[in-house]
Amino acid sequence: MPSMRLLLAALVAAPLGVLAAANDDDDKVDMLGMEPDRAAGEVMFRQCALCHGQHGQGILGGKYPRIAGMPTYYLLNALKDYRIGDRGYDAMIVVGGLRTAEDQDLVNLAAYISDLEVSLDVPAPEDGSARSGNRLYRGDCKTCHGRNGEGKTRKESPPLRGQYHEYLLRQIDMFKAGERIHADDPDDETFVDYEDEDLLDILAFIASLDDVTEEEEDDNDK
Ligand code: HEC
Ligand code: HEC
Repeated sequence: MPSMRLLLAALVAAPLGVLAAANDDDDKVDMLGMEPDRAAGEVMFRQCALCHGQHGQGILGGKYPRIAGMPTYYLLNALKDYRIGDRGYDAMIVVGGLRTAEDQDLVNLAAYISDLEVSLDVPAPEDGSARSGNRLYRGDCKTCHGRNGEGKTRKESPPLRGQYHEYLLRQIDMFKAGERIHADDPDDETFVDYEDEDLLDILAFIASLDDVTEEEEDDNDK
């Protein structure tokens, strides 16, 4: 269990951030009309690191997902969803101080986390065929999640590569059970016709994709 002292430290320190220099890259943040304060984001991130790891790398086995380097638009959407309870994980909301977080806090956190660089070579599920998964992925996932699993700004979709397959499968189960909304569509049917075997194939394919650098990502986003 994280210590109470750390929790208190973050609650006290969060509002005291110093102003960070302006950064041109933050178009999503500009959309909210807010300048991120990365130093304040870094302070708040200490609470997140208790589960997600010091570099936002998450944990092998996917209990805690990797969050490092995820795009700002997606992090903001996810954090807003947790704050209002559309996505639920109580321990995170309490320890991370999210329930009482201001918009500015989320902007700061998203900017800081999005800048964290890790490159993970995640393991593939044992019983999946990346070759069959490739075919399914190109047919059903590529339009939104990108050719190389890099995610698409335009679709507000997350990158899938470099993420633990156990975490991804858990999310798919939540989508199927209606506990989380996929693709912004409450009636989404992406996963209804898939057998477990198909999903493992897709996840094997995703795990085979390289977790690549930012320059490549920009290329793919066009
Ligand atoms: C007590 C452990 C814990 C703490 C502390 C915590 N998280 Fe999480 N976080 C989780 C777990 C577990 C999940 C996955 C929940 C699920 O399966 O829905 C998650 C999911 C997420 C996701 C969704 C990732 C995705 O791909 O959609 C984001 C973003 C995130 N956390 C950010 C944060 C931030 C920012 C903080 C600090 C303010 C934080 N978390 C603190 C445990 C934690
Ligand atoms: C119509 C666009 C669209 C299609 C097609 C699509 N997705 Fe998604 N997907 C999204 C969006 C948007 C999100 C983010 C949802 C949110 O903000 O909570 C998402 C989220 C996810 C997540 C959660 C990731 C995370 O980090 O929590 C998984 C897993 C996922 N999709 C898998 C797939 C797979 C596998 C396919 C193909 C079988 C697929 N998606 C097809 C748009 C799409």
